[in-house]
Amino acid sequence: MPAFLFFFFICNVAGAQTAMINVQSRKLTSLNGKWNVIIDPTSAGDNMQVWLEKKPQKKTDFFEYSFQGGQVLNVPGDFNSQLRELTYYEGTVWYKRIFNYSPNNTKRIFLYFGAVNYLADVYLNGEKLGSHEGGFTPFQFEITNKLRSGRNNLIVRVNNLRKKNGLPGIGYDWMNFGGITRDVDIVETDRTYIEDYNLQLKKGSLDTILGFVELAGIGGDQNVAVKIPELKLIYKTKTNSKGVAMVQFSSAFKLWSPKNPKRYKVIIESETDAVTDTIGFRNIVVKGNKILLNGKPIFLKGVNIHEENPYKGARSFSKKDAVVLLNAAKALGCNMVRLAHYPHNENMVKEAEKMGLMVWSEIPVYQHIDFADPVVSDKMDRILRAMIGRDKNRCGIIIWCLSNETYPGTPNRNNALINLTQECRGLDSTRLITHVANTQRYQNNTFDVRDTLYRYCDLVSINEYLGWYVPWQGKPSDVKWNVVCPDKPVFISEFGGEALYGNKSGPIDEAAYRTEEYQAQIYRNQIQMFNSVPNLSGVCPWLLYDYRSLGRLHPVYQRGYNRKGLLSDKGKRKKAWYVMKAYYSGI
Ligand code: GCU
Repeated sequence: MPAFLFFFFICNVAGAQTAMINVQSRKLTSLNGKWNVIIDPTSAGDNMQVWLEKKPQKKTDFFEYSFQGGQVLNVPGDFNSQLRELTYYEGTVWYKRIFNYSPNNTKRIFLYFGAVNYLADVYLNGEKLGSHEGGFTPFQFEITNKLRSGRNNLIVRVNNLRKKNGLPGIGYDWMNFGGITRDVDIVETDRTYIEDYNLQLKKGSLDTILGFVELAGIGGDQNVAVKIPELKLIYKTKTNSKGVAMVQFSSAFKLWSPKNPKRYKVIIESETDAVTDTIGFRNIVVKGNKILLNGKPIFLKGVNIHEENPYKGARSFSKKDAVVLLNAAKALGCNMVRLAHYPHNENMVKEAEKMGLMVWSEIPVYQHIDFADPVVSDKMDRILRAMIGRDKNRCGIIIWCLSNETYPGTPNRNNALINLTQECRGLDSTRLITHVANTQRYQNNTFDVRDTLYRYCDLVSINEYLGWYVPWQGKPSDVKWNVVCPDKPVFISEFGGEALYGNKSGPIDEAAYRTEEYQAQIYRNQIQMFNSVPNLSGVCPWLLYDYRSLGRLHPVYQRGYNRKGLLSDKGKRKKAWYVMKAYYSGI
């Protein structure tokens, strides 16, 4: 099996499998909807074996839990925004869903989760299927031989307690929305089905696809076809003994770009299965100090976005949520979005691609990570594979980001992240790879950008908060730069400051620091400074909307929100929004 395939099939924590690709194109039974729940702050349910759902047999059987008569929650959806008493909740919630199913014994059946934050223990009819750790990537269990004909009882123990060796770790500047946060489906496939495929342009090519189709079930000599009706293209090949068919063919594709987000209907067929996808083809490389899209230099006009629907104050998951967020990015004049700091839901990635927005996708290796703990490297590998595994056919994704603001001094940080970078290149060499750092020194109005990680990156991504966390030391336009890797493109991945929408009080004084005017001035200054940045290939304000973060405690100006949005949590445009809009309109 070709090296880059090996990584896709390593099993997750006991039992949870890597999810098959493109579930939406399969025969699905949705388990979304109302689920009964038991809120279990002390995880007392573990000793009570809640998943067995014991029923009293005699008068003296006093079971101290039941799903009947209890709370009900929506799935998908985080639990914190659904019940007031769960607003700040971090702990265990037991979810239960009854479903009827008539298994067809010529088929295979899988239970698929889009994501569960953070730990999921899954039980079917009282039997444990397995567990999964990580709140932002899909996973599945094969239940072909575990399903009953008729009534089935699915119980999921969800826990969003923070873990020191977790991803993310203990401290992070966003809301720890817990729950079954994305779709849950029963997936029915043939005994031999299309488990995975990768159909993207070969690195550096504008017309040749290099990829594979992978079957699960019986192996060799299976006929496989890739069809693109619009191009009257049918490519035929055969699987090898391991069920893998290599794919390589050329065509005069209309290339995907922000101006023309062209995508094609693509049908992948085997003798017993077929899936349909909508795929665009584009080429993204770094050449010298420039980022080239389809061979032409491009400037990334970005904005950072958290996976939160500001109007609901809830974890976003739906197509509608995605369109709300992405329309706002388009309105600002963006051609790119950084989906911070974890893999967002598939709707977000697909809608961005459809709208012509390039996507930066990231794994939550964020600030305080316990790199010294060997399990952390396994977890990083696993989440990286799951992110790339799910989205490798999304041409909108141009950058994989592997870490944000980790501390060079942390034991094993460099080794762990350098290994991860090489891993990522092995998995996908067709996209740009980066790490974000804020380790630069700033003295005498001069930046000294030195992080070792940049040597392993395709672009130098810098978070800097001049004017907010760091006072200017001179005129913005006079800022000097010493950048390690002076020949690489530079990307300002975060900058900005806070303002409470409507707080317009006049001249700068203590209380006025969070005025719209002060925030707008930060943006004007940053834009002046951008002219001095060597090899500047893009910028990305922190961030689009005010969003929930419990560490933001100021009772007047924050109230549990990070207020660095260019838009308030009600979508109101702050003064800085207009400054950024004008800047992007001028590029
Ligand atoms: C950091 C970090 C963000 C955070 C931002 C802030 O740079 O990457 O996640 O929210 O700063 O402090 O507002």
